[in-house]
Amino acid sequence: MPPKEYVLLLGADQYLRERALLGTKQATDLPVWAAAEDAVRKPNRMFDNMLSADPMDADSLLRAIRAHSAQGWHPKIVVPLNDWTVDSANTVNRVLGLGGLDATVVVNARNKYAMKQALLAAGVPTPRSQLVQSEQELLDAIAAIGLPVVIKPYDFGGSGGVVLATTREEAVAGLAESKGVVAQHGSSYNIRGDKYLVEQFVDSDDEVSVEVLCGAGRAQVVAVTEKYLSPRPWFAEIAHLVPSHRTGDQALTDLAVRACTALGIDRGLAHVEIKLAADGTAWVIEVAARPGGDGIMDQVERAYSLNPYRLHVGSYLGSDLLDVVAGAVPTKTSAIVFLKASPGRIQEVLDEKPLPPEVRSINISAKRGDLSQTAKNWSTREGFIELEWDELFKEKTWLPVAMAKRLSDEMFVVDEAAGE
Ligand SMILES: Nc1ncnc2c1ncn2[C@@H]1O[C@H](COP(=O)(O)OP(=O)(O)O)[C@@H](O)[C@H]1O
Ligand SMILES: [Mg+2]
Repeated sequence: MPPKEYVLLLGADQYLRERALLGTKQATDLPVWAAAEDAVRKPNRMFDNMLSADPMDADSLLRAIRAHSAQGWHPKIVVPLNDWTVDSANTVNRVLGLGGLDATVVVNARNKYAMKQALLAAGVPTPRSQLVQSEQELLDAIAAIGLPVVIKPYDFGGSGGVVLATTREEAVAGLAESKGVVAQHGSSYNIRGDKYLVEQFVDSDDEVSVEVLCGAGRAQVVAVTEKYLSPRPWFAEIAHLVPSHRTGDQALTDLAVRACTALGIDRGLAHVEIKLAADGTAWVIEVAARPGGDGIMDQVERAYSLNPYRLHVGSYLGSDLLDVVAGAVPTKTSAIVFLKASPGRIQEVLDEKPLPPEVRSINISAKRGDLSQTAKNWSTREGFIELEWDELFKEKTWLPVAMAKRLSDEMFVVDEAAGE
């Protein structure tokens, strides 16, 4: 009897990654499974089946997979959709001989220090950095790198614990703050969070993220996204707009491809973040071996009429889809912008306000009684809007940020005296 095969998606049953399932269905006719620790009490009915396993833990996944193997079901490939499952998915792939990313590549993609070393070794410009644990090591790193610096956990994401320091005092406070963020959130994402990167600061507000479809020795840019950030000393992502007006910048897209090649990423989508300094230098900030988060893939899909998850999963399944990428052209602009109330206690949420015609969807997560904090990372958002325009912008537009600010100010009635 031929083996009964399925594709196992990890991290796909997550908010704003829903369309991963649709993309997978476009890439393959095989059944699509997901995993959840308590799949009986928390089934996701969209998937063809659910494994009862921790998606972030390879051993737990292997146990559940082997239990189903006894009934004749075997995974064809395990595909990670977020940072927290890149290691577990590829460990399972290797153990079962299914292919997947090499172990060194996974380390390069998940440990920002190893990543920087690999980038520098390949001549890819990335800010100088040192790995520290203690306050003394931090001060030594500052003596070597010079101020200002950015301090960040070496294996987290979502700008969690990423902070700018312009003085030694700010740096000491910044390291303590970063450790606090890891203490609060680290265990939910299975990160170690035991070390911090001290990095040379690239002083610019211009930043993009680039989705790259990787192949063995070949890679191709799918889309360039313009990224908008919160005021310093934090770097919360507040908006993503696709396509960036920089999409045709060959030096930029070549750099994104070089960054992926330098890390050895040979399948799937990679998400490359690049900061553009005032003098024109492009600096690679980080590379993730998975599709971009924050709903960016949905904006890419709308702008290009192409579901990027199809490319990611298709590539893991061994299809060469670089020609599909080459043929995709953007016909509209799509953006996601996060709603932000002023800091303080939210007294009322006026969610019936009329919306401008560009608003395609709105999602309000905050409710009356919540405490709104200054924008620091993914966790300080009150919701989001998605916007759509029929035109392609030729230069950086601040429209998304202005529209979200106006709506946030109208919708959230805040008692600012009850702030942080
Ligand atoms: N060395 C740096 N110089 C300037 N800005 C930086 C630097 N490192 C990080 N940032 C800013 O902080 C954001 C989050 O940092 P990043 O390293 O991407 O961590 P995360 O994994 O949390 O996304 C970046 O998108 C960038 O805006
Ligand atoms: Mg980042």
